[in-house]
Order: sequence, then structure tokens, then C-alpha cells
Amino acid sequence: MRKKIVAGNWKMNTLPAEGVELAQNIEAGRNEVCECVNFIVCPPFTHIAMVAQTLKDSTVELGAQDCATEAKGAYTGEVAASMIAALGCKYVILGHSERRQYYGETSETLNKKMAQAYANGLTPIYCVGENLEERDAGNHFAVCKQQIEEVVFNLTEEQFKNLVIAYEPVWAIGTGKTATADQAQEIHAYIRQVLAEKFGAAAAECPILYGGSCKPSNAAEIFAKEDVDGGLIGGAALKTEDFLAIGKGFSK
Ligand code: 13P
Repeated sequence: MRKKIVAGNWKMNTLPAEGVELAQNIEAGRNEVCECVNFIVCPPFTHIAMVAQTLKDSTVELGAQDCATEAKGAYTGEVAASMIAALGCKYVILGHSERRQYYGETSETLNKKMAQAYANGLTPIYCVGENLEERDAGNHFAVCKQQIEEVVFNLTEEQFKNLVIAYEPVWAIGTGKTATADQAQEIHAYIRQVLAEKFGAAAAECPILYGGSCKPSNAAEIFAKEDVDGGLIGGAALKTEDFLAIGKGFSK
């Protein structure tokens, strides 16, 4: 049985007090949703310590949205994996399309970040996904395969056991356009097959999340698919009711 995960990527939203309130509300409503669903929130770095305090007795887990390529030192503005781990983060989102697109993150960068995450006991949520041009040209399988081969294939078997993948088609992020449940299943199954080429049976245990305009009205249909193990949620993670309702989307 793979983990069922609903992770909120708050991106660059909320002020610290708003983030704490959001976390409090999620915690307060969490018991309306099956215990079998693992909720994760990923606030901006600046709120992690306060949100960690809010969630200290909660089953809602904490993640960061990124970490540095280096362990420590003269890297102005960067935040090390050890720092977020020390605040209580268990997860770190790596390779989000916004980081690849706006901050030039390459597989080379991401290999270093993955190494830092594992060195500090964090579970990476590694994002892959094609843009609209690539989807229209029928290249979405090849794009996801390359993003996996160049980074995930460098992991050891032990590291791979502590990995979450998020498939996020760039054309569906923040656009209101969602991949259909069948489109999601098709590529999730493909990703799992690529993972199995390298990691064999362990690929069956790797949670693969869908991300991109996931909301209460479409989550249940998408999560019902065999190879979809939950969602990485942007906009809808900023509204307690929507975030919890997405968690209620699990029927399997
Ligand atoms: P939206 O849910 O706002 O489309 O964002 C998805 C996403 O990028 C989560 O990481």
C-alpha cells in the first residue's frame, strides 16, 4: 500500500501570521478526513519555525519549498537543508517547474539539492512535468523520462525508498486547466514504469502525486486512478476548506 499524500505548496503566499492561521485551521479540521491521508504543508521559509510550533502535536507534516545546493557557508540568501530539517521539516520540494523556469534550475543543480536533502534526512518531493509546447508535440513522455533519468536514477536504492514524485504539467499549474484523470493516469503509469527500469519492484512503493489546478471538484476523480497517490496543491492549499476537501477525495 502506497502512502496517500495531499501536500500544500504555499509558494510565495501568506504573511507569517496568515500562515500560522492557515496551519491552525488545517489542524483543527484534519480529523474530518481519513487518518490514512498524509497532509503536508510547505510554507515559505520565513514561516517554517512558527508553523512548526503550531503543528508540533499534529499529524500534519511540514516541508520546505526548496533548499540550497551546498551544506553551508558563503552563499548569501540561500537556505541549507540542515536548517529546514532543524526546524522540523520532513520534506522538501525540489525541481518545481517554477524553479526550473524562473531560476534556471538544471538537473545538475537538482542532483546537488537532492544530495543535501538526503544528507539531512529529508524526503524530497521531486517534481517533473512538461510544458504546453512539449505536450502538443507529443514529447511529454520523453520530457518526464529525462527529468527522472538525469536525477532520480542517480539515487541509491535506499534513497529511492524515501522519495515522492510529483507530476505537474506546466500548462495546468495556476491556469485552471487540469489534466484529465485519464491523462494523469497515463503518465503516472509511464513514470512508474521508468522508475521500475532502474529500481525494480521498489517502484511500486513510490508515491506519485498529481499537481496542476487540483481542487475539490476534480481531486476525487484523479485520485481514484491506479497510479495517482495524491496531489501537490498550489492555489487550493491556501484555503483550508478546499485543502481538506481535496483530502476527502480519496476513495481507494
Ligand atoms: P496550482 O494548484 O495552483 O495549479 O499549483 C500547482 C503547483 O504548482 C503545486 O506545486
